[in-house]
Amino acid sequence: MADTTARRAVLAGVDGSVSALHATRWAAREAGQRHAPLHLLHACALPPLGPHADTGTEAGLLEALVEQGHRWLRQAKAEARDTGGEVKLRTELRVGPAAAELVEESAYALVVVLGSRGLGGFRGMLAGSVSSGVCAHAHGPVVVVRGRLPGKPPPEDGPVVVGVDGSEAGDTAVAFAFEEAAHRRVPLVAVHTWVDLSVAETWSALPFDIDWGAVADDERRLLAERMAGWREKYPDVPVRQEVVRDRPVRGLLACAEEAQLIVVGSRGRHVPRGMGLGSTSQALLHHSGCPVAVVR
Ligand SMILES: Nc1ncnc2c1ncn2[C@@H]1O[C@H](COP(=O)(O)OP(=O)(O)OP(=O)(O)O)[C@@H](O)[C@H]1O
Ligand SMILES: [Mg+2]
Repeated sequence: MADTTARRAVLAGVDGSVSALHATRWAAREAGQRHAPLHLLHACALPPLGPHADTGTEAGLLEALVEQGHRWLRQAKAEARDTGGEVKLRTELRVGPAAAELVEESAYALVVVLGSRGLGGFRGMLAGSVSSGVCAHAHGPVVVVRGRLPGKPPPEDGPVVVGVDGSEAGDTAVAFAFEEAAHRRVPLVAVHTWVDLSVAETWSALPFDIDWGAVADDERRLLAERMAGWREKYPDVPVRQEVVRDRPVRGLLACAEEAQLIVVGSRGRHVPRGMGLGSTSQALLHHSGCPVAVVR
């Protein structure tokens, strides 16, 4: 159980994969920038052996898994030291299912950082079950570290991009994005997309007279209003506001081509509470060329 009085840590999930090592480095840098401790966690569990293994065999297998886990944690620790310098660091091994352990610990973390892939899955798979599951159920922000190409390290320069959709989760995402841009001393690009193409096509086929230009002006005004308070709070962060008439995921990916981080809410206006991730966040976890922060 975490010590809740201590300073909240940046929590990274370690599973022996290259992707998790990229995540560990990203987490170490994040901890350094935020003057937070770094917590490296590995979880291991026995496969469902049922009656096919005796207790002695089970104990032996678990011991081997634990030993391997400690080896991976030592490797991740060395990687973190190499990047994060003097950050306060602790490693932890838990016996239990990884996604559940990470979700539980997310309640005490500043942010959870994971690789997009791990040791499992299959070739061509774009995001693993631990990373998607933790994004859907964590108690706080989760960053899934991705590179421009599969298996490559994430980009380290460029702006922070945030998707602004006017929802409550979207506002929390804006707060997180400003903090990240401020720590990294880079500009923030606030992107608001405002039309679903299917709606536009249906409407243009019907005899409605809609002034799309005026709608766009309204959306621009709305974005400016939503951003005004934050810009005052972070006067040193240069902000660019983009209003895009496109589907959210396409608009965000286009604006994030040069970005080092893309920040979205865990669900938008269309996903009811308790239903996990919205489709935009899910699609970004699979297709973004830079780390994705999913914030709730
Ligand atoms: N056992 C674990 N303990 C701690 N963190 C983990 C563990 N497994 C995965 N992670 C974290 O989650 C990230 C994504 O791994 P994930 O397991 O989701 O993908 P995968 O192994 O490719 O697919 P899957 O396990 O769904 O078959 C890893 O890079 C790591 O950060
Ligand atoms: Mg896995």
